[in-house]
Amino acid sequence: MSTVRLGVVGMNYWGPNLARNFARMPNAELAWCCDLDTAVLDRHRPGYPTTQFTTRYDDLLGDDTLDAIVIATPVPTHAALAKRALLAGKHTFVEKPLAVSAADARELADLGDARGLVVMVDHLLVYHPGLQRVKQIIDSGELGQIYYLYGNRQNLGIVRPDENALWSLGPHDISVLLWLVGERPIEVTATGESYLQPGVEDVVFGQIRFPSGILGHLHLSWLDPHKMRKMTVIGSEKMVVFDDMETERKVTLYDKGPIPRTETYGEYIQVRSGDIFSPKIPGVEPLRVVCDEFVRCVADGSRPLADGHAGATVVEVLEAMTMSLRSGGVAIPLAEANL
Ligand SMILES: NC(=O)c1ccc[n+]([C@@H]2O[C@H](COP(=O)([O-])OP(=O)(O)OC[C@H]3O[C@@H](n4cnc5c(N)ncnc54)[C@H](O)[C@@H]3O)[C@@H](O)[C@H]2O)c1
Repeated sequence: MSTVRLGVVGMNYWGPNLARNFARMPNAELAWCCDLDTAVLDRHRPGYPTTQFTTRYDDLLGDDTLDAIVIATPVPTHAALAKRALLAGKHTFVEKPLAVSAADARELADLGDARGLVVMVDHLLVYHPGLQRVKQIIDSGELGQIYYLYGNRQNLGIVRPDENALWSLGPHDISVLLWLVGERPIEVTATGESYLQPGVEDVVFGQIRFPSGILGHLHLSWLDPHKMRKMTVIGSEKMVVFDDMETERKVTLYDKGPIPRTETYGEYIQVRSGDIFSPKIPGVEPLRVVCDEFVRCVADGSRPLADGHAGATVVEVLEAMTMSLRSGGVAIPLAEANL
């Protein structure tokens, strides 16, 4: 397959970013843009003179020369649109989160496997060069034993009326936590509160427990004075921080940690504070890396890092955290892996 022909569905806020990236790739062709709203389509027509524009999703499904469909519509529509794309034999890219239910998400992942089609989810941050570097540092053993890690995703706005802060912001940090730790979580808890709209949590604090004892924590909010996009990982030897609000120092490695006790009579555990180091991180747009990976996987049949099963596990965590939120923060166990 020399050029991958794609269609983007949903062209309002986020879809245009996907369309722009795919249209700029030498080995991809933005063949279709689809949206139910003609006014939305009209905004983009001048930018893509060779692309076909339609309000009918069936036009994409019925185009035998179309290889892949990219879904950037509201979350409740993801599962049905993605299922129809897969049943029509199209490789499918879905915005995060993959679906609103774990059962639907797992069905999509399994359907892609059964039909030999790529299912990829826009877990953008696992493709971020800064977090890729954090993953390398963890996997190299430089941090020692990982104790715990936590994500901060706070800002003032965008306040969504139809999804809470967990579903809107959480997929990013949950996908990163699961990928960095590399274990299936065993239990989650979540608490939160709705201040602006009844029943729509503006702030959510979530915890994820992993079988090795690693603890993950999330602070998600659109009602906060700080704009924070951070992930901090604490190890027995060193600690590393990813901060997406920094322009140059996206990753900082701290040679800080406890000093192992060598004396049996020592009363206190001492800590040490050494060098602080920031590696250079390439300044590429993470969404471009995501789009490159999708096109490469469609072309050569390989499996993306953020595949349908990774997407389904994130939805399982979201679903379990929602149960915890609704029941006053009780711990919800996650079922054994069925991957
Ligand atoms: N990766 C990220 O950082 C990021 C950021 C923002 C949004 N998103 C995701 O992108 C998706 C879209 O979000 P948004 O904010 O752009 O939503 P939006 O509501 O602004 O736009 C959705 C568009 O989809 C169209 N649409 C709805 N149903 C359709 C259908 N059946 N066929 C064709 N078009 C249809 C609507 O007319 C609308 O124009 C969501 O899944 C969201 O979670 C991801």
